[in-house]
Order: sequence, then C-alpha cells, then structure tokens
Amino acid sequence: MVRLGVIGIGYWGPNLVRNFNELSNCKIIKCCDLDTKKLENIRQKYPDMIITKDYLDIIKDKNLDAVIIATNTKSHYKIVKDVLSEDKHVFVEKPLTTNSKECLELIDLAKKKNKVLMVGYVFEYNSAIKKLKEYIENGELGKINYIDMIRTGHGPIRQDVNVMWDLAPHDIYILLKLIDSKPDSVIARGKAFLKNGVEDVVYINLTFPNNKIANIHVSWLNPAKKREITIVGDKKMAIFNDISQDRKIELYDKGAAYSEISSSEFDKFQLLLRDGDITIPKINLEEPLKTEAKEFISCILENRTPLSDGIKAYYVTKILEAAEESLKKNGGVIKIVY
Ligand SMILES: NC(=O)c1ccc[n+]([C@@H]2O[C@H](COP(=O)([O-])OP(=O)(O)OC[C@H]3O[C@@H](n4cnc5c(N)ncnc54)[C@H](O)[C@@H]3O)[C@@H](O)[C@H]2O)c1
Repeated sequence: MVRLGVIGIGYWGPNLVRNFNELSNCKIIKCCDLDTKKLENIRQKYPDMIITKDYLDIIKDKNLDAVIIATNTKSHYKIVKDVLSEDKHVFVEKPLTTNSKECLELIDLAKKKNKVLMVGYVFEYNSAIKKLKEYIENGELGKINYIDMIRTGHGPIRQDVNVMWDLAPHDIYILLKLIDSKPDSVIARGKAFLKNGVEDVVYINLTFPNNKIANIHVSWLNPAKKREITIVGDKKMAIFNDISQDRKIELYDKGAAYSEISSSEFDKFQLLLRDGDITIPKINLEEPLKTEAKEFISCILENRTPLSDGIKAYYVTKILEAAEESLKKNGGVIKIVY
C-alpha cells in the first residue's frame, strides 16, 4: 500500500484525488492547499483525509511514501525539489517546470535519491492517441506530411504562465510521441489581450527533420472548446476529436497525387484525388487519468521508470523555451538544440 499526500487541490487536483482514491494499492492520507475553502470541499467529500495548509506537513511526514503535486506551474520546481529532498516519490502535473535546466536538475535529484519522478502528461495514457500512434507505426497513414493541432476554450485563465505554457505542453508531448523525432526549429507568434505580457492566443509552428511540419493553435480566449488533431499522411488522413464521445478518431481514406499520363510536355501530369471511406475505430474508454494513476503507483512498487518520465518532460520544456524565445521576437525562427 503506497501512502500518498496531495499538494494543490484547485481545479485539477480533485480529479487526481478521485482517481488515486479509487485504486486499491494506494491511500491518500493528507491533502494540502493554501485555500481553506478548497480544503473544506475535500474534507466534506473524503472525511478520512487529513487536511493542511502547510505542505511541510506532507513532505516531512515519514509515514508518506509519495506526493502528488497539482499546484500552479511556477511553483512546481521548488515543491518537487523539496519533496525529492525528503526522499519521497513525486507525481507532478505538467509542465514539470518552465526552465529546462531546472528539469535536468530535478531528473538528476530523483536519480540520486532513487525515487520515481513522473509528470502528468496524461495523453501518454490516452487510448485514442495510442490508436493514432498505431496507425502511424503500421503504415496505415503512409508517410506523415503534417500535423495540425487546436486546443482552445473559454478559460481557465492563468495568472502565472501564458496560454502556451498552460495548454501547448500537451500538444508538444503528443507530437513527440507520434512523430518519433524532435523538432529542429520553431516559430511562435501570439498576443496578450487581457494582461500585459501574458499571451492569451499563440500559434506555434514546428519543423521536424524529414520534411514534416506541425502547427499548434492554443487559446483560452475562444468561445469554442476544441481539442483536435489532424494528421495528414500520403496514404490516409486522421482526425482526433477529444471532445467527441463516440467519434474520437475518424480515419479518412483520402489522398492526392500527381501521376504521369503521357510523355509529351503538355498535360504530362494528372492530379488524382482519392476520396474513399471514413472509418471510426472503437476506442477503449478507460479514463486516461485512471491509467496514469495506476502507472505511478506501479512504478513505485516495481521500481521502474514511468512512461511520462522526467526526460520526456525536459524535451517538452526545451521546445517551449525555444517557442517562448520566438514569441518574444515576434515570430523569429529559433533553432532547437537539445
Ligand atoms: N493534465 C491536465 O490535463 C491538466 C489540466 C489542468 C491543469 N493541469 C495542471 O495542474 C496544475 C494546477 O492547475 P489547476 O488548474 O488546478 O490550477 P488552480 O489554480 O485551480 O489550482 C492550484 C492550487 O494549488 C494551490 N497551491 C498553490 N501553491 C501552493 C502551495 N505552496 N501549497 C499548497 N497549495 C498551493 C492553490 O491554492 C490552488 O488551489 C498546473 O500545473 C496545470 O498545468 C493539468
């Protein structure tokens, strides 16, 4: 039985509490937040859990094995470091930190302490994303030409980071999983409408080796909640819609190619558009957060590295750091060196 403490029970933390609480091989003993109202909500739902406003009550508790952190992004580095220093395993929400050097420092500390460091990149555990990966690996889509991603909605609006650091970590993580190579350059442009210096809408364009590109549009100032990925391969195309309940993925047997039709220079090529069937595959609907929670606990019990480990989180942060540099240069091309 893994004994857990949770730090940060704002918007997202209660989802983690619910999922970890449903597992039989761990127990949440203590929950911490600076906000008394949020603590009272937890006490009402889970009367057995001890509540506290001081996270030292959690990290200094020798009876706890591991800590789950769902505090504001800018606080992750210090809290993760404090938890690891007290010899406890850590699960921290994405992004690990907004500074790649800090990521490396935390990865190193976890290694020295022989503790699990897992980052809440929940799409690692999403069955629809696994299906897309399968389509790419088994050649169903052919050679991937480009990927288009949209993650928009009306809030929640953050105070500590811009929309890119809030939403795009998910998309970058998914891209790294799907494409199996890392982007070598990035361009990002965005605008801050609500608060000076904190962008509310950002467009990120990434170039990958082998002639692939990807585009990410993130905004928390948009009337429509959209979570979409379009993958265009040279054989087939796929659309992932995370909002849909029954059509998470649509696989389109569509394509276009020029073929040579005569040897004369005039009218030498003919454009052929293929417009075939649309397939909707069946997707396992286990809540990805539940799979994620299981992974953390089994990594502790089996002393193994999680799928969404510190190194993958470091790559995401490194790419976003470069995107941030481009943003500040109003769309300058930034090479990414890992
Ligand atoms: N995986 C996902 O899909 C997903 C979704 C939403 C948010 N998140 C991530 O979760 C984290 C939290 O996001 P949120 O939306 O819940 O934010 P939030 O602002 O709603 O909640 C954060 C909570 O942390 C508490 N907190 C901050 N510093 C603290 C400290 N020192 N000690 C104790 N409590 C402290 C705050 O009081 C607040 O209640 C962010 O890193 C965010 O990126 C992940």
